[in-house]
Amino acid sequence: MMIARFPTIDEWADHVADQFVALLNAKPNARLCLPTGNTPLPVYERVAAAVRDRRVSFCEAEVFLLDEFGGVPADAAGRCDVMLRRGLIDHVDLPEDRYHRIDTHAGDVDASARAYDARLHPAFDLTILGIGANGHIGMNEPGAPVDSPTRRVDLAQETMDGAERYFGGTHRPTWGITVGVKPLLASREVWLLATGVSKAPVLQRLATEPVGPPLPASYLHVHPNCTLFADAAALPGRATLEVAT
Ligand code: F6R
Repeated sequence: MMIARFPTIDEWADHVADQFVALLNAKPNARLCLPTGNTPLPVYERVAAAVRDRRVSFCEAEVFLLDEFGGVPADAAGRCDVMLRRGLIDHVDLPEDRYHRIDTHAGDVDASARAYDARLHPAFDLTILGIGANGHIGMNEPGAPVDSPTRRVDLAQETMDGAERYFGGTHRPTWGITVGVKPLLASREVWLLATGVSKAPVLQRLATEPVGPPLPASYLHVHPNCTLFADAAALPGRATLEVAT
């Protein structure tokens, strides 16, 4: 895992957005798997500005949602689809049929997850991830196997607690559908984003614990082209991130 560490969140966001624009200009038809949550928002804001300034275009790209909460109304403010539209999709020139959402309202949720998984080939060109305080990536919670496909998952207690803030306290999802660890690791390139002091403890775990199911983000250590982009608050006094064996 490569590490890119920035003194401030603005420098972090400028750099990640520049990298995003460069990647999309180099491969306009890139298949992108994108997260929601709060971490990527400053990056999305800058990428949207680049589209407005005609420095980049999404018109040939494909965007796949990384995950989605189940058991909440389709238009609830904290749904991943609603959050990604609000943060990025509504502000860029991505054709509607190139934006892939996850259907959690289907009668057969497992079949819906399998159908989404089947659309993830060929592999993503770029996957962007945030990290949960418990080490989750997407909704791959602790215990997720390395070869897990896209599937319905029960959320960990702390994920449920944390998700309430996305919904302004109106909903408390207990499950979701997530792109699995297997298709995430198949991505040509992965960027793990982490900012703020609240992410420091889990990044410390990432630096010291062995690769395995208790810390799903640790699987990224075995990916050949993964970069952690962090600000100094999330990665205090640390220039490198070694994997424990
Ligand atoms: C969001 C997602 C989650 C978040 C993680 C961090 O689509 O899959 O894994 O990336 O929970 O959330 P924030 O960025 O809000 O701290």
